[in-house]
Amino acid sequence: MRIAMIGTGYVGLVSGACFSQFGIDVVCVDKDKQKIARLEAGEIPIYEPGLDKLVADNRAAGRLTFTTDLAGSVATADAVFIAVGTPTRRGDGHADLSYVYAAASEVADALRQYTVIVNKSTVPVGTGREVGRIVRERRPDAEFDVVSNPEFLREGAAIEDFMKPDRIVIGTQSERAREVMRAIYRPLYLIETPIVFTTLETAELIKYAGNTFLATKITFINEMADLCEKVGADVHDVARGIGLDGRIGRKFLHPGPGYGGSCFPKDTLALAYTAREAGSPVTIVEQVIQVNAERKKRMAQRVVEACGGSVAGKTIGVLGLAFKPNTDDMRDAAALDILPALLTAGARIQAHDPAAMEEAARHLKGIDYKDNAYDVAKDADCLVVLTEWTQFRALDPKRLKELLRRPVVVDLRNIFNPAEMRGLGFVYESIGRPQPRHSA
Ligand code: UDX
Repeated sequence: MRIAMIGTGYVGLVSGACFSQFGIDVVCVDKDKQKIARLEAGEIPIYEPGLDKLVADNRAAGRLTFTTDLAGSVATADAVFIAVGTPTRRGDGHADLSYVYAAASEVADALRQYTVIVNKSTVPVGTGREVGRIVRERRPDAEFDVVSNPEFLREGAAIEDFMKPDRIVIGTQSERAREVMRAIYRPLYLIETPIVFTTLETAELIKYAGNTFLATKITFINEMADLCEKVGADVHDVARGIGLDGRIGRKFLHPGPGYGGSCFPKDTLALAYTAREAGSPVTIVEQVIQVNAERKKRMAQRVVEACGGSVAGKTIGVLGLAFKPNTDDMRDAAALDILPALLTAGARIQAHDPAAMEEAARHLKGIDYKDNAYDVAKDADCLVVLTEWTQFRALDPKRLKELLRRPVVVDLRNIFNPAEMRGLGFVYESIGRPQPRHSA
């Protein structure tokens, strides 16, 4: 079995490395010569726990290689995975499929034997069929099938998610293609991972429906958190109280500053677009998108209020910049809304993130990046928690209090204990937990 993985971005690199761990020969292809050279030199361009070792081990075993030669890789592959980017298109918010279709054309030209062309990128309903049409048009003689095989990886836990998924979704009506996909996923088949075989269109929709449902769940608990603050209830107890109902489930009920990342914002927008175009709008999803965007903007106002109504001339310490812990990814991170708003309001900002500072510096100018969390607290008028990295949970509040100019903490991820913080004399604000109103 040989796989060509087109695109060495997040999905391509993780999937390629994991397939090679299954014992399959995998060649990862990218147009970006520099990126391939870096990968060949053993450098991993993204931050993902365990990925460096997985890549190194499988390269050493000779099962994982990197190249810019798409045609050569496709010619000998049993399956070609398309894992190129599908960014949000400017203007209308739909997914930009130009990279997917360009890859499909190049793959078509290189086909030499029966090949399964697998869409791994998150693509709107109908894309798989269009890939098939493009390939057929360029190569009427070629033997191939198109499969949709969406990924459900979470950044920071991607390898575990790949190796122990809740399910695998495979969209194709061709039995020949299903056989190839079964062979590829054999190790997971052996651990009794459910495989959902569907049509192309259904598989494509499953990916969007899944992510959109999770984004809705988060947005729901965020609104409950706001309500909790008004009525003096505790959102964590609400989440536990409802989540223990098996029909609801406990996961993805953690309140915060609004969801971000590379998937939820993009996928909710793309589904809303697809649905509008299909004449069957998903109004609940449109609401989710709007509520989440407004929430992120409102978070800056919370900081301003905690600082007594103005941050002009004040120093705000920010802990965490990435959209979630264990990643250096800044895509649609709440920090990208909150920090510029605070800067505009006249604040000075000093910040630390264990992994995302380099990435943050590309998007956020005028921030004083610090080496550690305590340096962030030093002489700050307010400390804001934006990402729940484990190391922040272990910080010593007493030491933070000594370093801060004013003992104000706005904890947008609820990592500290309110009673303890207030007991130590902090003005402590968190999300959806009973809190006396203060002005600092
Ligand atoms: C998500 C999906 O989980 C994954 O299945 C899909 O393949 C890609 O998109 P990811 O974006 O890596 O993964 O991160 P995830 O852990 O799902 O978090 C997304 C966002 O939701 C983050 O901003 C996170 O902080 C937020 N979130 C998540 C909450 O605010 N509360 C929660 O309870 C869970």
